[in-house]
Amino acid sequence: MDGNGRWAKQRGLPRLKGHEQGAESVRAVLRAARQAGVKYLTLYAFSTENWIRPKDEVEGLMNLLGVFMDRYEGEILKNKIRLRVMGQIERLPENLQKKLSKLMEKSAKDYEYTLIVALSYGSRLEIAEAAKAIARKAASGELDPETVNEETVAQHLYLPDVPDPELMIRTSGELRLSNFLLWQLSYAELYVTDVFWPDFREEQFFQALEAFNQRGRRYGGVVTQ
Ligand code: IPE
Ligand code: MG
Repeated sequence: MDGNGRWAKQRGLPRLKGHEQGAESVRAVLRAARQAGVKYLTLYAFSTENWIRPKDEVEGLMNLLGVFMDRYEGEILKNKIRLRVMGQIERLPENLQKKLSKLMEKSAKDYEYTLIVALSYGSRLEIAEAAKAIARKAASGELDPETVNEETVAQHLYLPDVPDPELMIRTSGELRLSNFLLWQLSYAELYVTDVFWPDFREEQFFQALEAFNQRGRRYGGVVTQ
């Protein structure tokens, strides 16, 4: 979800206004994804690298997350959306951690859709953590190093039961992965739009799905039809 700052700058507004409008886009895209029958939606809300932003902005973003959850808890539960998070959750403010775990627990009871929020997330860190866990098991004899394969690594990532994304949407025209789901995106279709995240709403989401549907996915094989 990139481009909040530039969206605000274009309008002579403080960056936080861009993040606020971005939160509205989250709501819009969540609704559109549900309409389209998308079962898993992952939002990259805050990266491990984002901690170096000015203190005010970091606090503003954390605050906004809390406000967002309070405001949309009802909507999330009513629409049978399960909330999950990935990343260094322990680095988040404690009240936010509490809110997250409460809603995660409540929403896990009865759900049709999954919303994953990547918070203080970094993909290299995630892979390094997986390597550590595997190494620990190997050292203790729980696992034979010779059996380690792609599946083993995948099983030690943050959310092993979540399928790999089929489509990655990047807003604001940046042509980078920015340390996002490096392992999981191996076969994902990439869609980049110049639209800043605060302007990315239902219509733009459906356009991205349309573009996705036009692509022929072969997974390294040949075209069969
Ligand atoms: C939002 O956009 C991404 C978050 C970290 C919340 P940015 O804040 O990166 O916006 P730009 O890149 O300055 O436009
Ligand atoms: Mg940015």
